[in-house]
Amino acid sequence: MKKHILIVPGDGIGQEVTTVGKQVLDRIAEKFGHEFTYDEALIGHVAIEATGDPLPEETLVKMRASDAILFGAVGHPKYDNDPSAKVRPEQGLLRMRKELGLYANLRPIKLFDELLEASSIKPEILKGCDILFFRELTGDVYFGKRERLDDGNTAYDTMIYSKYEVERIARKAFEAARTRSKKLMSVDKANVLESSRLWREVIQKLAPEYPDVEVEHQFIDAAAMLLIKDPRRFDVVVTGNLFGDILTDEASQIAGSMGMLASASVGDSTGVYEPIHGSAHDITGKGVANPLASVLSAALLLDISFGLKAESEAIIAAVDAVLKAGFRTRDIANSETPADKILGTDAMGAELLKNL
Ligand code: NAD
Ligand code: IPM
Ligand code: MN
Repeated sequence: MKKHILIVPGDGIGQEVTTVGKQVLDRIAEKFGHEFTYDEALIGHVAIEATGDPLPEETLVKMRASDAILFGAVGHPKYDNDPSAKVRPEQGLLRMRKELGLYANLRPIKLFDELLEASSIKPEILKGCDILFFRELTGDVYFGKRERLDDGNTAYDTMIYSKYEVERIARKAFEAARTRSKKLMSVDKANVLESSRLWREVIQKLAPEYPDVEVEHQFIDAAAMLLIKDPRRFDVVVTGNLFGDILTDEASQIAGSMGMLASASVGDSTGVYEPIHGSAHDITGKGVANPLASVLSAALLLDISFGLKAESEAIIAAVDAVLKAGFRTRDIANSETPADKILGTDAMGAELLKNL
């Protein structure tokens, strides 16, 4: 198969982890006889530094021309600590999602058995847990009208959804539920928010079209609690942009670390595959970032954008093998991990390649 992949490392550890993600794609191409060509593009802080724009036109053109995108992360402490900055790295990410119509963000919570002890949740509560989040990605408070009023002393953001936006993500989640345990949890705040009441109305209206799927509604506050209390109760979850953002960072602790969670953003055009984590300033440049979220994002890319199931599974099996051999990055190690098994980003990448 011939495919063109755009690598968009972005900022901070985004650079470090996508290097490993790309190495894994290269190895897969070699092993399975595919021809992957690559290009690179700027986004986020590095793009602002180079062009003044967090999503330069050139990047967008390259994105539209590629078959899939492997993305790192955006963000820089300079902006995090400067609320007045008008141009921000995250704007590049959000505009990319909107421009490419990436309305569905799939965030699988895949718990590798070997990492049961890496979580702060008790192993007996976690074992066998497997969740697939559908986070709506191009609506909600992220894209609603926002403003400062009152000489800057008051601010608002608008949480807004149309029925159309809810329906298209909900259909994806219903379809996925059909292929799994036929259970769908919809998470909202319909006891308070009008946009959530619209959300719930759409889900309820769709449910009869999927009579084989059992629908459960939960409020976001209760869902956040249940995720820790009884994670195995969750299977397919559909929720809005903001609730999905928060709930999946929480869910990363089921998998052991932010460094383990991959995601696929799909919709109208080229799919974007990225870890759910950010640029992690606290560990940038130290060579300790866990590259597995990027590697597992590459696996999602092959499966979802290219339909290469065996290739995708080969990557997951390699991750499994490396973990079974006892290798860990710092974020998934514990006090019992032997020092010689704790690897940096590149060394973890090298171990993976040995298993591919
Ligand atoms: P973060 O996800 O970058 O980091 C949170 C914590 O998890 C940190 O302690 C970090 O060291 C750890 N962590 C994250 N990824 C890791 C990995 N691969 N290996 C080991 N440890 C890992 O979130 P944050 O600190 O809240 O945000 C930092 C910056 O990233 C901000 O500027 C934020 O806007 C941006 N951000 C970007 C994205 C994205 O590009 N999709 C996502 C989240 C945050
Ligand atoms: C994510 C991030 C982004 C989001 C930020 C950086 C805009 O947290 O991809 O999860 O909130 O969507
Ligand atoms: Mn997030």
